[in-house]
Amino acid sequence: MKFPLNLQAKIDKRLKDGSYRTMIDLDHLIDFYSNDYFGAAKVKYHSDLAHGSTGSRLISGNSNYVEDLEKDLAAFFNYESGLLFNSGLDANYGIFSSILERGDTVIFDSLIHASIRDGVRMSFAKSYNFKHNDLQSLASKLKLAKGNIYVVVESIYSMDGDISPLAEIVKLAKEYGAYIIVDEAHSGGVIGNEGRGLSHEFDLDEDIFIKLITFSKAYGAFGAVVLCSHQMREYLINFSKPFIYTTAISDFTAGRIRQVFELVKGMNKERKTLRENINYFRSLAQGKSLQITNSSTSIQAIIIPDIKLLVDKINELIEAGFAVRGIAPPTVPIGQERIRICIHAHNTKAEIKSLLDHF
Ligand SMILES: Cc1ncc(COP(=O)(O)O)c(C=O)c1O
Repeated sequence: MKFPLNLQAKIDKRLKDGSYRTMIDLDHLIDFYSNDYFGAAKVKYHSDLAHGSTGSRLISGNSNYVEDLEKDLAAFFNYESGLLFNSGLDANYGIFSSILERGDTVIFDSLIHASIRDGVRMSFAKSYNFKHNDLQSLASKLKLAKGNIYVVVESIYSMDGDISPLAEIVKLAKEYGAYIIVDEAHSGGVIGNEGRGLSHEFDLDEDIFIKLITFSKAYGAFGAVVLCSHQMREYLINFSKPFIYTTAISDFTAGRIRQVFELVKGMNKERKTLRENINYFRSLAQGKSLQITNSSTSIQAIIIPDIKLLVDKINELIEAGFAVRGIAPPTVPIGQERIRICIHAHNTKAEIKSLLDHF
């Protein structure tokens, strides 16, 4: 079969510069690579609920079961409404492609997730990014903004693991009358009372226009809920294409989301152990003078800017029994190549020490 030459050239370039992506299954090794921070993904689920939803929510795919789950999630997270999407990526495409209009301005952190960038690109709004977690840079972009202004941040950044200065960002964005959208993919279940997230921890929910919680990380399942006002939910149902033109999640899947949501809510002990493990990892890594990101969360990264050294170190760790993954450009900037290490509540201190003994 013929294959377009320009596409082959892109593959060849990746092979040459060491950034070629492959999929592997390392689940038999000690987990330092998954977002399953509490091991919820491994908890069994049995249910007689329907496995298929049979259509879009707007045709045959809606159910009282899913609507009840959305109401319970909204109540728990303290928002008026919730709307489930099939994934966090779908939700971000769905939010940004539908709410941003020509004449509006969207300003997002320079390390924002690819699904938000792409969602923004699907719109005709003017977009700016501001320097990562930098309020002065955000202020300079807010001064240029016209139309409806949307400021978009993550709670915990998915590659560096650092936390957004959300209270300061909200304060500044409010001065310009901006709508604030926060992607809490990595803080849902982890931060805040019973895992309600960063905006809840800082008592900011009243000022957040849209908050996204995904069930794909700490909750160990998949799917995402957009938390917002009743009006915003109605708007998304009417205009968000990744919501409208797709088969809805089944009751079976919604049941799994309910199960892990209830489970993780009750994991106060695991949240405490996770914090202890993170502190332990960082104290050992700092003692070795490794270049690590400024992160106090489950996502840790050891920067190794030389791609050959990086690949060699990853292979060494895998051979020694650790599941770890490297992250290369374009996911991170050139010079920021790294081993991304996810710390879990179920990692033992001995496992963490033994991992770091390889550095
Ligand atoms: C910040 C952020 N938002 C959204 C997503 C997408 O979520 P999902 O995996 O549920 O599609 C991810 C996961 O990669 C993420 O890290």
